[in-house]
Amino acid sequence: MIKKFDAVSAKVPKMMHGADYNPEQWKDYPDVLAEDIRLMKLANCNVMSMGMFSWSSLEPTEGQFTFDFLDHILDEFAKNDIYVYLATPSGARPAWMAEKYPEVLRVGPNRVRNLYGHRHNHCYTSPVYREKVTIMNQKLAERYAHHPAVIGWHISNEYGGECHCEYCQQAFRDWVKDKYQSLDQLNHAWWTAFWSHTYSDFSQVESPAPHGETLLHGLNLDWKRFVTDQTIDFYRHEVNALKQANPDLPCTTNFMLLFDQLDYAKFAKELDFVCWDSYPAWHSNMEESDTAAWIAFNHDMFRSFKDGQPFLLMESTPSTTNWQDVSKLKRPGMHKLSSLQAVAHGSDSVQYFQWRKSRGANEKFHGAVVDHYGAENNRVFSDVQEVGAALEKLTKVVGTTVDAEVAVIFDTENRWAVKDAEGPRNIGINYEETVFDYYKALWENHVNIDVISMDKDFSKYKIVVAPMLYMMQLGVGERLEKFVEAGGILVTTYWSGIVNNTDLCFLNGFPGPLRQTLGIRSEEIDSLHDGQTNGVKMNDNNRLGLDGEYIARELCDLIHLEGAEALAYYTKDFYAGRPALTVNAFGKGKAFYVASRNDRPFYNDFLTKLIDETGVKRVLQKDLPKGVHAHSRTDGENEYIFIMNFNEEETTINLTDIGYTNILDDDEISDTLILKSYGVKVIERSLK
Ligand code: GLA
Ligand code: ZN
Repeated sequence: MIKKFDAVSAKVPKMMHGADYNPEQWKDYPDVLAEDIRLMKLANCNVMSMGMFSWSSLEPTEGQFTFDFLDHILDEFAKNDIYVYLATPSGARPAWMAEKYPEVLRVGPNRVRNLYGHRHNHCYTSPVYREKVTIMNQKLAERYAHHPAVIGWHISNEYGGECHCEYCQQAFRDWVKDKYQSLDQLNHAWWTAFWSHTYSDFSQVESPAPHGETLLHGLNLDWKRFVTDQTIDFYRHEVNALKQANPDLPCTTNFMLLFDQLDYAKFAKELDFVCWDSYPAWHSNMEESDTAAWIAFNHDMFRSFKDGQPFLLMESTPSTTNWQDVSKLKRPGMHKLSSLQAVAHGSDSVQYFQWRKSRGANEKFHGAVVDHYGAENNRVFSDVQEVGAALEKLTKVVGTTVDAEVAVIFDTENRWAVKDAEGPRNIGINYEETVFDYYKALWENHVNIDVISMDKDFSKYKIVVAPMLYMMQLGVGERLEKFVEAGGILVTTYWSGIVNNTDLCFLNGFPGPLRQTLGIRSEEIDSLHDGQTNGVKMNDNNRLGLDGEYIARELCDLIHLEGAEALAYYTKDFYAGRPALTVNAFGKGKAFYVASRNDRPFYNDFLTKLIDETGVKRVLQKDLPKGVHAHSRTDGENEYIFIMNFNEEETTINLTDIGYTNILDDDEISDTLILKSYGVKVIERSLK
């Protein structure tokens, strides 16, 4: 059942628009605040995130707290209907703290403690750091948890990294002991008899180190799991101190694009809502539609963490970043298109880093709504105003979700395991790129897609695509089998069903728990050097009705049929004629196995066929011009379709269906829709 979600805050029942605001940098410039409020209103902004980096302003010396500047700003905001995600400042700490308590600083994998500097440079386990954070958070909560301007807590900033200090080592040992209970179980799970690495006491367990252990993959995997758990534990510790004062104020922390140090799928369960920081590299050497699909993939993943609950775009740049290799200006139209792409995929906000450009230090050239110049008469400011005006028109989209009948499995623990393994192709096994190839082919079909971890419920989908499902957690094979049995379409590939949840290989044949569902057995896998190819030729009269030959690269799995039917075969090498694509009818469904990494035309043709055959709903008609993408949100009664032109050229679409209302601009909707260069339309239709 599709339902409408509540807005993040009942105080702002509309699309949110705003930025990270760092007023602590401008305390010596008394006119700035008044000017900022004037400009915020002019830019149609209604929310700001503040306080991420305010610790040394809030506690300039140990135990001496000064909240006056924050009081003043929050009161002024409240008078002006500007709302705030108030941050806890744990992402960066004052110099006095590091000087007096060096244990708050992080220790690297080489066991050397960092000097003071940067941000995120802290230990998540240190009792002193946890105590200091608790005191700070309690003070913030006592003072602001019921402030009329405050609508939620922004916990820390972009958590990440790991610490290898003695506190963390002990916490890791406790975690390991708790998980495995006995040394025998631990030694088996990590396969420590290999090179005589058997532990005879839990005290010998250490985190991976460049000058120590790196080869026990089970250890590496568990260390990463521990780092996620310890970060979550730290997050909970922060949140507890805040929720005591007002349990209803929602908490979140901002996530990052494709970040692999933490298992976000697990972390997201702790958050009241998900948000993330998106910095697409538009207009690069990559095809624009690849950049668009890549960002779409990330949006879909962040939305899927909480099963379709809208997320917030917590940061994006109003113009450029200062950290990409080349910081290209957004061409006219792109700012609005990029912002509304986030909304199309489930965001209920468009927020920026940053409101006002810093005057000094390393982010002084990072794009901002307000430039060093300080006034509103410029292109970036107008772009921001335009987005604000567009968001005003999208109030009814707030709380709606994305109805997806297709899911792509992209799983962080699998990602860790598949990339850690030394195996057939150490120059690159390209997990992310491969998942993206499948995603892109679906994206080009204009179907809504969820991007999920392997622990999610598969039963709501018609198609589940699980490329390189190398590591399979307990029960996943059984759940996928049930999914297919009940009528689902499963697509998986070579290098799936190889290891279990502690990175031990499945015995009795790959693809392990999926062997029966797929009706095949993999015997060996050939790896190809860069530039080497094989061919994948469709069998005559294959049941998909595909013909022609495709190119295979990188990995070619040599499989035996055990009930499955071959749909294509390799054309070259000693395995020419062996199956390269198979399907197994299983229960009411079908399981496909793609035995090699193929070039994109294969994924396009293959997935388009599957979508046609299974009747997965396309958001609009099938054939839209290249570079145009359609995506929809719904509350079950109405559908809001975002049509986005990622081409620099104006593009015309001949709609095969009419009966839409235009909700973004005043153009009439007829059967021809003209999308300007980087243009976007939002149209509505009733589903009743
Ligand atoms: C991240 C951080 C911000 C800022 C931006 C710059 O998203 O959260 O504080 O550093 O990057 O792009
Ligand atoms: Zn530590």
